[in-house]
Amino acid sequence: MGFLGSKATAGRLLLLLIAVSAATADEDVFIGVNIGTDLSDMPHPTQVVALLKAQQIRHVRLYDADRGMLVALANTGIQVMISVPNEQILGIGQSNSTAANWVSQNVVAHYPATNITAIAVGSDVLTTLPNAAKILVNALKYIQSALVASNLDRQIKVSTPLSSSIILDSFPPSQAFFNRSLNPVLVPMLTFLQSTGSFLMLNIYPYYDYMQSNGVIPLDYALFKSLPPNKEAVDSNTLLHYTNVFDAVVDAAYYAMAFLNFTNVPIIVTESGWPSKGDSNEPDATLENANTYNSNLIRHVLNKTGTPKHPGLAVSTFIYELYNEDTKPGPISEKNWGLFDANGTPIYILH
Ligand SMILES: *[C@@H]1O[C@H](CO)[C@@H](O)[C@H](O)[C@H]1NC(C)=O
Ligand SMILES: *[C@@H]1O[C@H](CO)[C@@H](O)[C@H](O)[C@H]1NC(C)=O
Ligand SMILES: *[C@@H]1O[C@H](CO)[C@@H](O)[C@H](O)[C@H]1NC(C)=O
Ligand SMILES: *[C@@H]1O[C@H](CO)[C@@H](O)[C@H](O)[C@H]1NC(C)=O
Ligand SMILES: *[C@@H]1O[C@H](CO)[C@@H](O)[C@H](O)[C@H]1NC(C)=O
Repeated sequence: MGFLGSKATAGRLLLLLIAVSAATADEDVFIGVNIGTDLSDMPHPTQVVALLKAQQIRHVRLYDADRGMLVALANTGIQVMISVPNEQILGIGQSNSTAANWVSQNVVAHYPATNITAIAVGSDVLTTLPNAAKILVNALKYIQSALVASNLDRQIKVSTPLSSSIILDSFPPSQAFFNRSLNPVLVPMLTFLQSTGSFLMLNIYPYYDYMQSNGVIPLDYALFKSLPPNKEAVDSNTLLHYTNVFDAVVDAAYYAMAFLNFTNVPIIVTESGWPSKGDSNEPDATLENANTYNSNLIRHVLNKTGTPKHPGLAVSTFIYELYNEDTKPGPISEKNWGLFDANGTPIYILH
């Protein structure tokens, strides 16, 4: 079978993503897709790129800087965020020349044929690799220095994806703050992001917020479904009304930054999504909910509604993720965040 699955189903997904690319023509907001590779039969880079093209996906994030993928993405017009994997971050954060070699091999060798637009230095480092926290800002700075030396720092932005779990007391958003024990890292990091014109990279998972809330967060509020006005969440300090978890977390991040006196660092959401299948403890990981979440998320982002704190300020977002990753460890949901299976057949047709 071809990677598109049946023509009818592929066609409908296509329509939505054509809308995505049309809306990105002015480049002030986009929907991208994360490409995880923990599949037992990971498609060849040329097949991955064929799927991206067929679906009009114009922005991707890779979790590494795989040479095969970067070559396949050359001359496609697709914009690419590459990543320094967590395993390499200690080396890079401790050595300017290791960082310079990384940039020369993984960026300079491919740019401009491959349109690398951002480098994500590590992934959830503060929450999953706490011993690297103290070198994280050095890693950002060393990668940046190497880009400056190659005259690529205007085209390529450097940042590091953060888990939204480092934002404490995130509702009401106006009272949110970052876990204070991370301030010694976050303050120099935000100073770096501000001075380089980069953005805060944030992973937002309303699915987990909902699951961990023990019934406090209504499912409809996590899924961007329309709520009766008396069910909207109101921030008692600002009187702003929140109709979904995603906006509340984005605003919590703006307020947490403002609390540290950073008011002009934009946010990009590096991961968000919903699993389409789970085990018996995860009854809301369903095809229907995954479809509702991702369809509503795409509409919400591309409509440039912004958030209650910053109406009209769009927050570009990478959906997690392109493929179901069947070799991921953990609960069944971990393997089922994808929009497609390894053949490129859609898991569901976006509403
Ligand atoms: C990369 O994409 C950006 C945004 O569309 C565009 O401005 C830039 O010219 C592209 N760069 C290359 C090298 O194609
Ligand atoms: C790191 O290397 C860059 C060149 O890649 C250089 O401009 C910069 O000064 C160096 N920084 C340190 C701290 O050695
Ligand atoms: C805050 O961060 C520290 C250091 O990573 C961690 O040990 C602590 O559990 C975090 N606190 C909360 C409430 O998440
Ligand atoms: C933020 O700025 C205010 C006013 O200048 C200052 O009092 C406060 O200490 C600053 N907070 C931080 C975290 O730097
Ligand atoms: C799109 O944005 C307009 C205002 O700019 C708003 O009235 C409308 O509800 C939004 N639609 C969606 C689906 O978010």
